[in-house]
Amino acid sequence: MFITFEGPDGSGKSTQVNRLAFALQQLGYIVYSTREPGGTPIGDQIRTVLFDLENTSMDPRTEILLFQASRAQHVSQVIRPRLGRGELVLCDRFADSTLAYQGYGHCLDRAELQTIINFATGGLQPDLTLLLDLPAEVGLARREKGGDWNRLDAFTLAFHCRVRQGYLEMAQAEPQRWVVLNAELSADELQAQIQRIVLERLASRPDLFVRPEPLG
Ligand code: TYD
Repeated sequence: MFITFEGPDGSGKSTQVNRLAFALQQLGYIVYSTREPGGTPIGDQIRTVLFDLENTSMDPRTEILLFQASRAQHVSQVIRPRLGRGELVLCDRFADSTLAYQGYGHCLDRAELQTIINFATGGLQPDLTLLLDLPAEVGLARREKGGDWNRLDAFTLAFHCRVRQGYLEMAQAEPQRWVVLNAELSADELQAQIQRIVLERLASRPDLFVRPEPLG
């Protein structure tokens, strides 16, 4: 099962992904958590280019293709093989980030983006996408305070508002795949909600459950 986490910058996705991975492993699932851009050695090199603060002249088309290059490598080298072995793959951002940031945020043609995404992913879709929803101002303030500032954060508040609206629109259009969560809740409460939702979905996939062999 392929589960992705989406949301504005500073919504606390990575903490939640790590906590969920740990909890599911304790329950006996084989879990692999990863992120985009990156997730492979080649993807991590692409990530460095994307987030280099000196690359101020990067054309939006270059940016899109770099995200898809990282994603294509990630899908073929990591995600598909692991899903094929019956593992649970948790991914911090996936193709919906391209539609939210490059599509809604930069106002680029979303149908065209979808074609490029399909080329990169071979049509792979998450089974479940959790949106950690947060007002853009709150997310940006959290990132600034944490000192974790990258080239893509430097866009205007209006950009981040469009990203948020884009996410909410996508979630509304495909309610069977998306679940919207309030990322202003405490990290513990958010994690409890996430675990409830994921365990509910996993109940229909007993094939993914691997009970650890008893010792001795
Ligand atoms: P990152 O440092 O991983 O932080 P976080 O996921 O916690 O926000 O930054 C990822 C950035 O890349 C984020 O600003 C969203 C952006 N992004 C895109 O614009 N398009 C994409 O396809 C992906 C995967 C990410």
